[in-house]
Amino acid sequence: MFPRRARFIGNRPRTQLIAGGRRLALSSCLLCELPTQGRIHLYPRNASGVESQPYATKTSMQDLNITRPPSAYAALLADTRALGFDMASEVAVGALLRTLAASKPTARCLELGTGTGLASAWLLDGLGLHGSLVTVDNDDRLLAVARRHLGGDPRLDIRRQDGDIFLREAVGRADRFDLIFADTWSGKYRLLDETLSLLAPGGLYVIDDMLPQANWPEGHGAKVETLMAKLAQRTELRLCSLDWSCGVVLAARV
Ligand SMILES: C[S@@+](CC[C@H](N)C(=O)[O-])C[C@H]1O[C@@H](n2cnc3c(N)ncnc32)[C@H](O)[C@@H]1O
Repeated sequence: MFPRRARFIGNRPRTQLIAGGRRLALSSCLLCELPTQGRIHLYPRNASGVESQPYATKTSMQDLNITRPPSAYAALLADTRALGFDMASEVAVGALLRTLAASKPTARCLELGTGTGLASAWLLDGLGLHGSLVTVDNDDRLLAVARRHLGGDPRLDIRRQDGDIFLREAVGRADRFDLIFADTWSGKYRLLDETLSLLAPGGLYVIDDMLPQANWPEGHGAKVETLMAKLAQRTELRLCSLDWSCGVVLAARV
């Protein structure tokens, strides 16, 4: 995995970084972006191309993602920054995971690649009292942060293990999960079939970092394309790609 940018609450939203003060027509929905007092407003256009009054702003859309972050979020973020860990999940992805988890309150969730526990915190914040989350990472230094802030939650099982070994053992036990967030090589670029076999019917498979990033090494784009092609071939999955945040693919097993 590679360093991510514009990851956290407090950063300027990605849309502002990319769009800056440029006027940018969005042809698909006949909207245009205009910077107004530091915010990018969306103006509907009428048939003659004249803008009418704004009805939404990109920042107000992004603000929904930071509504009541998990209680441990601020402390986790401070420790994450102190460690210099730059692969942490974006807040938008965290908010998506929390929403998905909240729709399955008793879900058994699996996260491959705990990092310092930011996405774990979002998932736990969505799950109900009888839900559970197993999260796996091979880096003790990172896991110590997750354990410090989330370790008291009885719904959470933090494993220090290689992701490939965890997956092979889980397949051997015929484990089933209702939501899998594959945020490392294991379960995404490696052992994809094994990981998908762990999905319960109706289970969700979530991956991010699917949109091109400046720091991708040579050849990584081709791996992303191959992964998406493999997912597209799976007849038991109902897929959608979200061209949003760092790029998310969401799949449900029928
Ligand atoms: C993108 S980061 C995960 C970010 C995390 N999900 C979050 O919410 O911030 C990828 C993680 O995968 C872990 N990792 C890399 N190789 C691994 C492996 N073979 N087994 C388990 N974890 C691994 C890294 O230590 C790193 O923490």
